[in-house]
Amino acid sequence: MSSLHLDKSTWDLLQSGVNNRERIKGLTHLFYKYPARFSPAFAASAIECLSKPADVVLDPYMGGGTSIIEGWVRNRKMIGCDINELSRFVAQCKTTLLSTSDTAQIVSWKQTFLPKIRYDNKYRLPTIPTGRYGNNLELTQSRFTKPLVEQVLGDIVQIDRKPVANFLRMALLKTAQLAWDGRKQRVSAEDFRKRLDTNLTVMLQGMDEFKSALINVDKRKSPKLLCQSAENLRPSLIDNQKVDLVVTSPPYPGVHMLYHRWQIDGRKESAAPYWIADCEDGKGTDYYTFGGRQTRAGVDKYFEIAERTHRAIRSVMKTGAYFVQLIAFNNKSSQLPRYLNCMANAGFDEVNLAGSSRMRRLWRKVPNRKWYTRFTDTSNSSKEVALIHKAI
Ligand SMILES: C[S@@+](CC[C@H](N)C(=O)[O-])C[C@H]1O[C@@H](n2cnc3c(N)ncnc32)[C@H](O)[C@@H]1O
Repeated sequence: MSSLHLDKSTWDLLQSGVNNRERIKGLTHLFYKYPARFSPAFAASAIECLSKPADVVLDPYMGGGTSIIEGWVRNRKMIGCDINELSRFVAQCKTTLLSTSDTAQIVSWKQTFLPKIRYDNKYRLPTIPTGRYGNNLELTQSRFTKPLVEQVLGDIVQIDRKPVANFLRMALLKTAQLAWDGRKQRVSAEDFRKRLDTNLTVMLQGMDEFKSALINVDKRKSPKLLCQSAENLRPSLIDNQKVDLVVTSPPYPGVHMLYHRWQIDGRKESAAPYWIADCEDGKGTDYYTFGGRQTRAGVDKYFEIAERTHRAIRSVMKTGAYFVQLIAFNNKSSQLPRYLNCMANAGFDEVNLAGSSRMRRLWRKVPNRKWYTRFTDTSNSSKEVALIHKAI
């Protein structure tokens, strides 16, 4: 067992972050519901307990950028990496600060263009999704909102100012996710306009809150966001900085998670988020999940990739730096020891609570996650664990 320990007060603070059950809110966190996002309180507690201002903090699987936001407002130099272009788009929008004139342009768009959005199934613009981008968008409930999305995109492509165009794309992405992803009911044009209007209001408030939280932070040191596999992490890729802390949540072994698709009419997969965000698509689910299907071969592949990525992460970290991660297993008894073995092979030692003779870990229950329902062993899968390691 590792001889590395954390004192009780740090352990307790981390535990309260792990167990925080508040609804996700604040800053720019509400811009998009990224699948399997963790709570801002978890990221905040890990960053506060295990790093100090001006430290370099990395999230190698940043998803919707939760840790990037929480770290930047705490004056850490944030580096985010994700293999998914949609993740980079979302994290970039959440951390791009709008100028006063950008905000004015968005408010004016909301007052003038938004009320004119109408259902018209003859409406077509060059932004029509082709090939797989358009698959399943003609299904019962989505076909009524598709012309509305086209109409908004048709206007956005004419906006020159990138932060404004991306902010509006982000609001459209959020609105279409609410209307399409996992929904069975049809959304009327009036509802769609109302939701887009509300989303823009909430996002502008979030942006104001974020800017206020950054008041004492050097805004020129904005987060560095990479769209890469974490396997490619090298010192040169991050300007030869040495990482003081990793806070992250990797894909989960054996879990069929859709990071890159929405489910239209409740179940048919759609690449619509890439169409709306203007991102490159074309990879299958395995690409975003370390190849991790629930088959034996899939799980073996998962552990191969996990070890390679963790070695690469280790190569950019300082010796003695912490690596904190939230993870779940669909079969804890076989997968947790394998995962810990991967971490050890990649150059990490697990950290325990001081004074504890048995290894203690921070577990939390996760109610109502849609992917958990696919597991047979609910006692394992309804829990996540925060693992704390040190680079040796
Ligand atoms: C559990 S999610 C992270 C969620 C994030 N903590 C949040 O709050 O939004 C895991 C992420 O790992 C990314 N990912 C999968 N394979 C990767 C790889 N080889 N390198 C980097 N990112 C990868 C996925 O695209 C996904 O966004």
